[in-house]
This record gives sequence, structure tokens and C-alpha cells, in this order.
Amino acid sequence: MDYRRGEMIYEGKAKRLYRVQDHPEWILQEFKDSLTAFNALKKGEFENKGRINRDITSLVFRFLKGKGIPSHRVADVGANEMVTEKLEMLKVEVVVRNVLAGSTAKKFAIEEGTPLEKPLTEFYYKEDKLADPFISDEQALMLKVVNTQGELDQLKRLALEVNKGLIEFFESVGLKLVDFKIEFGRRASDGAIVLADEITPDSCRLWDKKTGEKMDKDRFRRDLGNVKETYEEVCERLRQTWEKKV
Ligand code: ADP
Ligand code: TMP
Ligand code: ASP
Repeated sequence: MDYRRGEMIYEGKAKRLYRVQDHPEWILQEFKDSLTAFNALKKGEFENKGRINRDITSLVFRFLKGKGIPSHRVADVGANEMVTEKLEMLKVEVVVRNVLAGSTAKKFAIEEGTPLEKPLTEFYYKEDKLADPFISDEQALMLKVVNTQGELDQLKRLALEVNKGLIEFFESVGLKLVDFKIEFGRRASDGAIVLADEITPDSCRLWDKKTGEKMDKDRFRRDLGNVKETYEEVCERLRQTWEKKV
């Protein structure tokens, strides 16, 4: 199928969004080579990052679809683009943690790497101006990120299902899923809440099961080196496993 790129409607830190000509129900997402951290206070880039993150997102969304978890993905286009459903994004980032790391480890002064008895779900208000603050369920409702407590519960349920799928996929390539962030959007036609955005080493913490090496954006955030090689490695491992499966 031929997808013709229309005008650009948004440029973010990691992607540009375009209209798709003759298809108002879709958008084209172009994954950029840029890399940012700490709400873009730290900036970087590497060649092919966009292609790698598009490919990883595509593999993950196809895997999840096979597990009965649909996403906004319609098709991959070119080297670093994906056509997706056009959604009204919910102003919330949903984080799931299996092992304590990052901001929550720091907040409670608990050692990074401490396993959690059960996955922890957290909501952050998606608002760059405020640096995406943590919000409680009641604050999420006050801010109208969704309409009802039932929808908040649905987000948690969906996030935990995504967690199960991701644990399985990453386990199969020797990676421990420490935590991740996902976003959801609402489909205009029926109001359904759909998994959207991306799932990549930008938005997950992944630790190599044998060596404990960090295999995600923490390599950039914490100046650990080999950022590009690490993203390539994650992509290759997922691709090889996927190709064996199908
Ligand atoms: P940011 O906006 O945080 O800088 P990106 O550069 O990744 O992040 O920009 C992509 C933007 O597209 C995000 O704001 C994300 O919420 C939004 N988005 C993701 N999927 C969809 C979709 N299916 N429909 C509309 N917007 C989407
Ligand atoms: P945190 O420990 O910094 O709160 O991050 C939790 C997870 O969410 C981690 O896998 C990285 C991801 N994340 C994003 O995708 N975007 C963000 O803006 C932040 C802060 C975290
Ligand atoms: N996503 C944020 C940024 O791009 C923060 C982060 O991932 O550390 O700046």
C-alpha cells in the first residue's frame, strides 16, 4: 500500500508526526536520530537511531498483537517511519516497574536492582512544562486525563498485560525488563483506549540477564558509552528471535 506523507503536524524530541494524504484517520510517525534525557536538558544523537527505534517498536507491537494486545500500529514505511492510527493522546504516562530503579529507587533511597514482589504501576502527568510530575489516581481524575476511575483501572490492567507480554519477549532474548513507560490514546470513532507511541530502549530499562549490563537509554543518561551499539544489539536480538518464530 502506498502511504503519501502530508504536512507535518508536530515535532517532538524523538519523533515527527505527519498527516497521511487521503487518510485522516492515520498519521505517519518519523522516528528521529536524536536522543534526549532529563526533559531534553541533555541532548545527543546517533546515526540510524530512528531506524532502530522504529524497528524495535514494530517488533514489540507485532509481538503484543500476537498476545491479544492491539496497538496503534498500521504499517512500517521506509526506513524509519510507521503509519499509525491517529489518536487523541491521554495526558498520562503509565510506568510499570518489576525491579526498583531510576526515579522511584531514588525517591525512597532503596537500592537500584531491588526486586518488587509485584509489579508497581505509576501515573505521570504528561506535561513537558511541568517535567511530567508523578500523580495519584485522584489527581489523574482531577486533571481529567481520563473520564472515570473505571478508565484508570483499565489503564492499569492494560499496562500489566503489556508488562507480561514484554517480560516474555525480552526474556526470550536474554534481557530483564526492569521498568518501562507507555502511552495511550483515544480513538475518535468509538472512544476506545489504544496502546500508542513507542516501546524502545528510550522508554524501557533492560538489563542483560547474564552480565547485568544496562541495555537502554541509561547508557546515554549516565554516560556509560556504547549507546549506538547497545540499541543495535537489542534490535538484532529481537529481530532474530522474531524471524525464528514466524
Ligand atoms: P515528545 O512529544 O515527548 O517529545 P515524541 O518526540 O516521541 O515525544 O513525539 C511523539 C508524540 O506523538 C508524543 O507526544 C506522543 O504522545 C504522540 N503520539 C504517539 N502516538 C500517537 C498517535 N497514535 N496519535 C497521535 N499522537 C501520538
Ligand atoms: P524513571 O525511573 O525515570 O521514572 O523512569 C521509568 C521508566 O520510564 C524508564 O524505563 C524510562 C521511562 N521514561 C520515559 O520513557 N520517559 C520519561 O520521560 C521518563 C522520565 C522515563
Ligand atoms: N524522555 C525524557 C527526555 O527525552 C526524559 C528521559 O527519558 O530521561 O528528555
